[in-house]
Amino acid sequence: MAGSLQGKVAFITGAARGQGRSHAVRLAREGADVIAVDICAQMGSVDYPMATEADLAETARQVEALDRRVVTRVADVRDRAQLATAVDAGVAELGRLDVVVANAGISPLGASHGSRAWFDAVTVDLVGVITTVEVAFDHLSAGASIICTGSMAAMMGGVGSGGGGGAGYAFAKREVARFVHDLAAELAPQSIRVNAVHPGNIDTPMLQNEMMYKMFRPDLENPTRADAEPGFASMHKMPVTTLDANDISEAVLFLASDASRYVTGLQLKVEAGALLGMSTSGAPG
Ligand SMILES: NC(=O)c1ccc[n+]([C@@H]2O[C@H](COP(=O)([O-])OP(=O)(O)OC[C@H]3O[C@@H](n4cnc5c(N)ncnc54)[C@H](O)[C@@H]3O)[C@@H](O)[C@H]2O)c1
Repeated sequence: MAGSLQGKVAFITGAARGQGRSHAVRLAREGADVIAVDICAQMGSVDYPMATEADLAETARQVEALDRRVVTRVADVRDRAQLATAVDAGVAELGRLDVVVANAGISPLGASHGSRAWFDAVTVDLVGVITTVEVAFDHLSAGASIICTGSMAAMMGGVGSGGGGGAGYAFAKREVARFVHDLAAELAPQSIRVNAVHPGNIDTPMLQNEMMYKMFRPDLENPTRADAEPGFASMHKMPVTTLDANDISEAVLFLASDASRYVTGLQLKVEAGALLGMSTSGAPG
């Protein structure tokens, strides 16, 4: 049976692991071919291990195991030339572009990098998202779907009040929401849709690392995952500690497919109710 993305091509950033890999595999299972991009390198202000080329190769292996084609490129979303070269190469090989998933992100919350971490969060999590969409734009036509990854942090009052990377992350994600809202209005007459997904606490290496455990349990010397988990859970109103990457991929699939063909400008929260009852004033609806 043909999948809902049969014959389509998706460009996904941050695709080496975590949610990006999950999106690549989920969309491939629905028939999409994939252009998978990742920096595959460490950034100085990020105090947890970032993805490797071996991770990106594993994503490719999983997509190919579904009998789909994949083009992988190592590229930094902060580097427009690298990113444009990557998407152009992918389109040249796969023939078209229908879906853009601007997912790459960092969470440089460690205390030691100060305002450098603020700028790194903003250049990757906001400017990188805009650049991803911009380099892809000339390949898109009516029916295309753009999906940008925000965060529940985008709409949570108080997040980032400690300054540095946390403040940069919150600013970047808030502005991703606004970018999606305004770009959706810009591209609607061309029948190109633009939507955001805002994840809760997701079980990926961005959350499951010692730096994050320390953020959640600053009272402990060497906190473990078990020490941090009650904190992860307490942010969700539904009784769940972390969501699976695939929970976000299902939302991405809906937004990528024609099942949502008249949905644009949506801020789709997949956060187990974390934001319910919170003031999200100023966030685009
Ligand atoms: N994990 C969570 O709890 C959570 C919650 C809300 C939002 N998010 C967002 O979800 C998205 C995916 O994160 P994840 O949870 O899969 O984390 P992750 O760290 O497992 O994956 C992020 C990927 O992006 C890549 N990347 C980082 N900087 C890049 C750059 N400059 N250029 C290209 N690639 C780069 C990394 O190498 C990595 O493979 C991010 O935008 C993140 O902010 C995550």
